[in-house]
Amino acid sequence: MDSSPVKSTFGKAEYRVQDKLKTMNPLIQTRADYDLAYQKSVEDPEGFWAELASTFEWKKPWDSVLKWDFIKPDIQWFAGGKLNITENCLDRHLATRGDQTAILWEPNDPNAEVRRYTYRDLYHEVCKTANSLKALGVKKGDRICFYMPMVPELAIAVLACARIGAVHSVVFAGFSANALADRVKDAACKVVICSDYNDRGSKHIPVKEVVDQALAMDCDCVEHVLVLKHTGDPVQWTEGRDLWWHDQVDHQPDTCPAEVMDSEDMLFILYTSGSTGKPKGVVHTCGGYMVFTWYSFLNVFQYQDNDVYFCTADIGWITGHSYIVYGPLLAGATTLMFEGVPTYPTPSRFWDIVDKHKVNQFYTAPTAIRALMAMGEEWVTGHDLSSLKVLGSVGEPINEEAWKWYHDHVGRGTVPIVDTWWQTETGGILISPLPNVTPMKPCYATLPLPGIQPCLVNSSGEEIEGNDVEGLLCMKFPWPSILRTTYGDHERCRTTYFSMYKGMYFTGDGARRDADGLYRIIGRVDDVINVSGHRIGTAEVENAINCHPDVVESAVVGYPHPIKGQGIYAYVITQHEVKDEAAFRKEVLQVVTKEIGPIAKPDQIQLVTGLPKTRSGKIMRRILRKIASADTSGMGDTSTLLNPEIVDEIKAGALAPTKS
Ligand code: PRX
Repeated sequence: MDSSPVKSTFGKAEYRVQDKLKTMNPLIQTRADYDLAYQKSVEDPEGFWAELASTFEWKKPWDSVLKWDFIKPDIQWFAGGKLNITENCLDRHLATRGDQTAILWEPNDPNAEVRRYTYRDLYHEVCKTANSLKALGVKKGDRICFYMPMVPELAIAVLACARIGAVHSVVFAGFSANALADRVKDAACKVVICSDYNDRGSKHIPVKEVVDQALAMDCDCVEHVLVLKHTGDPVQWTEGRDLWWHDQVDHQPDTCPAEVMDSEDMLFILYTSGSTGKPKGVVHTCGGYMVFTWYSFLNVFQYQDNDVYFCTADIGWITGHSYIVYGPLLAGATTLMFEGVPTYPTPSRFWDIVDKHKVNQFYTAPTAIRALMAMGEEWVTGHDLSSLKVLGSVGEPINEEAWKWYHDHVGRGTVPIVDTWWQTETGGILISPLPNVTPMKPCYATLPLPGIQPCLVNSSGEEIEGNDVEGLLCMKFPWPSILRTTYGDHERCRTTYFSMYKGMYFTGDGARRDADGLYRIIGRVDDVINVSGHRIGTAEVENAINCHPDVVESAVVGYPHPIKGQGIYAYVITQHEVKDEAAFRKEVLQVVTKEIGPIAKPDQIQLVTGLPKTRSGKIMRRILRKIASADTSGMGDTSTLLNPEIVDEIKAGALAPTKS
């Protein structure tokens, strides 16, 4: 499936592309621009992406634009090309926008000082941090784990890794010590970077203590812990291993040569949940990720010079990687980073920030919109939100009510909403409206970006043609930021994404294509649930619950939740009769918090004496999902069950659905 290489030299590319594209403006401004770009991207993907990639500084041009094989899988974009992504995020902007704010940091405490880093400041801070990592013996290819609050030093150190070719693995700081230890060990990280504490909302979180607990779990690979003094409260110290950020970084030279990276060298690992086993480390590489995050950022947010862009995600998730750090900085944007939570000190915090910093593009998750909607529109009114030009949504399906509230109350009924569909594995946004360019429709992610070739297939893997149809969402052709592998286990990558439907990337989502060809994402079709926009594997939660000494077996399913999108419903079989159910439930929540973190705590725990199983011993989750959702439409065919009588028992004991 190798597509023939296109010869290119930086600056003067010889593309098999028609004249129009040679002068293609990367910013799509009209429907005609979109149609043309989309058509070109399908007819001549190599020419299309080569043209866009030529915008960047390459230390050496690529030998081939694309080589791909979705069977192995083996995907290479701009192979042989040499670059460093940080030169394109930072150095390249110094001459033209050195004094422009690159990162604008809004602290948790609204009265604390806002921090601004110009592109020049950021460049020097990244170089200093890169030099300090080098001084610790960190080399190209070494893995560095992050467990940090949303402070500018997180973005700085991530870029410092990229500067010297180290691979960053950012772990969301809400995960437990056990979960952190698993991730540190899986990637054999040499250094962990953390803070002393984290103030998030009214919570004071002992970040370093969690790292200490994690590293006590056989993390022998870790040589050093670099600790940022953030709140200044006292911490335990392991001499020799632990080092203060200010001691290591502050005195370093403020320039640092950028490591020469191959386009296909690893840039980062990010762990995400699947339907089976432990979370897997999704691997992204340098060149393709750079081109796609920049291009998608520019177009989905229609970013223009001097705009202030605010994405509320945490850098612990892919949204933060691609659309707080890399995409915006590659585009020379001002990216606002927020340390806190939407409800602290009041539910108007987002709108205070938008008003205070005159935010132009605002990107958040439906769960936050629903939570704020439930608190009443009085928290929004009274703010000057007239600076807003684009509103974004990401992470889960946005229901019509939330979409309308967002549009009417935040967007004054006029600001376009981009419902962006993508995944950790896709690296960037694949399906989304382009504001004021392509149509928007509530609940619909609408159209693929140029270069993206989605299709719907049936369960036998046959493509479903035409419109007004529903199926499993796959991608027929690679795009530059598609995952390359899962760290240390390529076979897992193959079986999870590329083996289900031959010759295609399978997303795990079901989707509908309406009469006009617009896509609506229905949700996961596997055993992954989406709780407040966080992706959680039901098997992971079950494994955690099963760590409780009295639990014999458990089954976890998702059910509709008015705020979280999906809630976690756990059916649990115990060894002994439970005398104090409330105390038992508390223990289960504790064990899940310890194994994974509070985000995976079940909302409902039902004690049962058995689970509906097929003769081959498989749990029939379809039935459990129906009961958890209080769906009264009948249980369907239960004749293949080994123990059909259990269904009525479980139904009789079902817990009331969550009201709020
Ligand atoms: O089910 C889809 C849902 O989130 C999943 C990906 O989760 P994660 O890798 O954590 O990345 C989230 C941020 C990109 C998808 O398989 N999802 C994401 N965006 C949307 C969505 N579901 C519906 N609409 C969306 N806009």
